[in-house]
Amino acid sequence: MAQPEQDKLKDQVRDFWNEQSCDTQVAKASKFSHDYFEEIERFRYFDQPFIHSFAQFSRYHGKRVVEVGFGAGTDFIGWLRAGARASGIDLTQEALDSLRQRIAVYRLPEPETIQVGDAENLPFDSNQFDLGYSFGVLHHTPNTEKAVAELIRVVRPGGEIKMMLYNRHSIYAVNLWIKHALLRGQPWKSLRGVLWHNMESVGTKGYTRSELERLLSSLPLEQIQIHTEITAADYLSASAFPPLNLFFRTCLRLAGSRFGWHPSHYVERVNAPGKRARAANARGDSRRAKGVLMTGNRWGFFHCISARKAERPSLEPAPI
Ligand SMILES: C[S@@+](CC[C@H](N)C(=O)[O-])C[C@H]1O[C@@H](n2cnc3c(N)ncnc32)[C@H](O)[C@@H]1O
Repeated sequence: MAQPEQDKLKDQVRDFWNEQSCDTQVAKASKFSHDYFEEIERFRYFDQPFIHSFAQFSRYHGKRVVEVGFGAGTDFIGWLRAGARASGIDLTQEALDSLRQRIAVYRLPEPETIQVGDAENLPFDSNQFDLGYSFGVLHHTPNTEKAVAELIRVVRPGGEIKMMLYNRHSIYAVNLWIKHALLRGQPWKSLRGVLWHNMESVGTKGYTRSELERLLSSLPLEQIQIHTEITAADYLSASAFPPLNLFFRTCLRLAGSRFGWHPSHYVERVNAPGKRARAANARGDSRRAKGVLMTGNRWGFFHCISARKAERPSLEPAPI
């Protein structure tokens, strides 16, 4: 996409989120009151309880964390409560106002810096942060690859990256396709097109595991893990249209859930880090050889991605 088109799309994304930050639609109390923020937080961690185990807020006490696209700030105040030295940006003034009010209402410690900014051009020096975190944001920006590269740039070598990106090959995306393509007599529409036009702001993308594997393994990252979570949206899709229930539920059940670790991984990591990659190579298991560990349920809507920034980024260009 040419730059002027990208700029136009980003304006549309900004306009959409400036109207209303994420999750705030659930709150009935008056805007920016204590009860308003309580309702948002209660809903978010009821709806997506796995965020706690993904973010692991309390591990970052005293560490420098940057959150890209903090929205209404529900996760961001988790960093402050945990005693992290947190910085953040969001594309919208609405999100910044919400977060400022939230910090004041809960009398939380001041963040290092929070501001309006663009994920594709982060206003931070390179190699600053212990953790770069972005939840449900980078698939909305026109140049997602650039935004991912920016998140990695600002993290120090050896630091961590955690981001959530949508899964195009998920029950929820298929259900959107049924609703916006099949039932409207337009079965030729693609999953990609349906997400682009019907999932939150215009231009939203979803990534398959293979696409992510290609993207992430071309970047200076190590210990990459893609844990795909089934969300409430997937489960609700599976009960929205009775004739499809059996199909959706069978898919979810057959895909099962792959654990995040196995005893053999644990032994290999702790006792002989090199062995794991060699063993994977010997089996011709390219995913594990490159260090991309796929866990969770492949049909879930949220790819929760975690990785470590390489201590010494390879100078060799990665194969695409
Ligand atoms: C679905 S909300 C997620 C917000 C928050 N991370 C959460 O999980 O509640 C998407 C957010 O991404 C922000 N966003 C979209 N494109 C962005 C960009 N290029 N730079 C910074 N923020 C962006 C929007 O303003 C919006 O607040």
